[in-house]
Amino acid sequence: TERTFVMVKPDGVQRGLIGKIISRFEERGLKLVGAKFIQIDQDLAEDHYGEHEDKPFFDDLVEFITADPVMAMVWEGQDATRQVRSMVGETDPAESPPGSIRGDFGLDLGRNVIHASDHEDPGANEREIDLFFDEDELVEWERVDETWLYE
Ligand code: GTP
Ligand code: MG
Repeated sequence: TERTFVMVKPDGVQRGLIGKIISRFEERGLKLVGAKFIQIDQDLAEDHYGEHEDKPFFDDLVEFITADPVMAMVWEGQDATRQVRSMVGETDPAESPPGSIRGDFGLDLGRNVIHASDHEDPGANEREIDLFFDEDELVEWERVDETWLYE
């Protein structure tokens, strides 16, 4: 079992999509182990998106992610990082299949509703969880349906 970091971005929050997005992960069988509704400051934004600091869209990206609140979450489950990324879709909503979160809720690359840790970047999940959450903000608990979710 594995933990991954997920964040409903300011566009998703403003558009009232938090509940629908949480429902998708709950229904999949993933377990919520941490959540906070916050407005990201400049430092946290620059840390979180550090890998993109040399890209032409970096300043716009930081401005966007700090503009309004986000819903930051940690979800746990079997192969969670990869499974969540497949539920999220491609970076560009226009290339994301219907049924994926970006494919169902987005149209534009710079307004793609949700962030999730990159499964192709080893350690990205742990790094992002550490950046947003203290250890005592993560809750260990059992879902009653776990024996029916896993063989
Ligand atoms: P995140 O889950 O947000 O990290 O998205 P991602 O992993 O699918 O994409 P990536 O990490 O490559 O890019 C981070 C974010 O930068 C994306 O989610 C987009 O919002 C934005 N972004 C990426 N590429 C471009 C681009 O070419 N132009 C613009 N305007 N934004 C981009
Ligand atoms: Mg990324």
